[in-house]
Amino acid sequence: MNKDTKVKLCCTTQMPIIALGVWQSGKDTKQAVLDAFDAGYRHIDTASCYGNEEAVGEAIRESGIDRSELFITTKLWNDDIREGNTREALMTSLKKLGLDYVDLYLIHWPVDGYVDAYLEMEKLKEEGYIKSIGVSNFRKSHLQDLLSKVHKIPSVNQIEINPTMQDEETIAFCNENKIRLEAWSPLGSGQCLQIHEILDIAHKYHKSSAQVILRWLLQRHIIVLPKSIHKERIIENINIFDFELTNDEINIMNHLNQNKRTGPDPDHFNF
Ligand code: A2P
Repeated sequence: MNKDTKVKLCCTTQMPIIALGVWQSGKDTKQAVLDAFDAGYRHIDTASCYGNEEAVGEAIRESGIDRSELFITTKLWNDDIREGNTREALMTSLKKLGLDYVDLYLIHWPVDGYVDAYLEMEKLKEEGYIKSIGVSNFRKSHLQDLLSKVHKIPSVNQIEINPTMQDEETIAFCNENKIRLEAWSPLGSGQCLQIHEILDIAHKYHKSSAQVILRWLLQRHIIVLPKSIHKERIIENINIFDFELTNDEINIMNHLNQNKRTGPDPDHFNF
């Protein structure tokens, strides 16, 4: 495993195992993406509701990196799912990003209308606007419902996973069904960085607690999307390929779970 490692999604798409997340990156988005490209990231995770697809697009163009080397994810927002605007919403995202296609398009939350949205995304994939289709914030029950109604399983489910939030039921279901997991807020929005068991492991490897958490997720075959607007942290977060946690250390991390979310609960949200 190294920073260029990719995993195969459906068909032939290859996804880099670490991405820069840009939720709440605001006016710093463009520079953060440029810093990430300099550090070796090739995978950026944005969403229409983050309001920064234009900034991501500007950074892509300014970087001069060939489109084929990049993996860009964006997401379909809830209002567009409810109103049946999947096609229009994707076209708007592509225009803002300045791209002809996205590598991964996700249903952002399991709101009413997600099945129809997914079926429309299957058509948009056939038309070449999307390389892979996935979902986000789907628990096992949502996935079971979706799988019974669509033609192809989602490539990816992007959910909150970090040391204190491990939805093992959903994780196991995704692993059994070969749905690749992506962890949003892998650092628990920064709240997991002072956990003493993690600091102890970090000390042993001369790494930071952020690096240990990201490494733990990768060794559990979970894609990581750490967010930072600081160059030194963006570099630090991808510098995780020169050490390996033992099985005992992975078990210690697994046992930190408290089912404590830092973000909304997919079964109870009101947006
Ligand atoms: P900042 O953007 O100011 O660097 P998560 O990805 O779990 O949501 O965590 C993101 C939060 O953690 C942000 O507040 C980010 O702050 C902070 N963060 C990201 N990387 C690191 C790091 N290596 N060390 C400390 N804090 C970090």
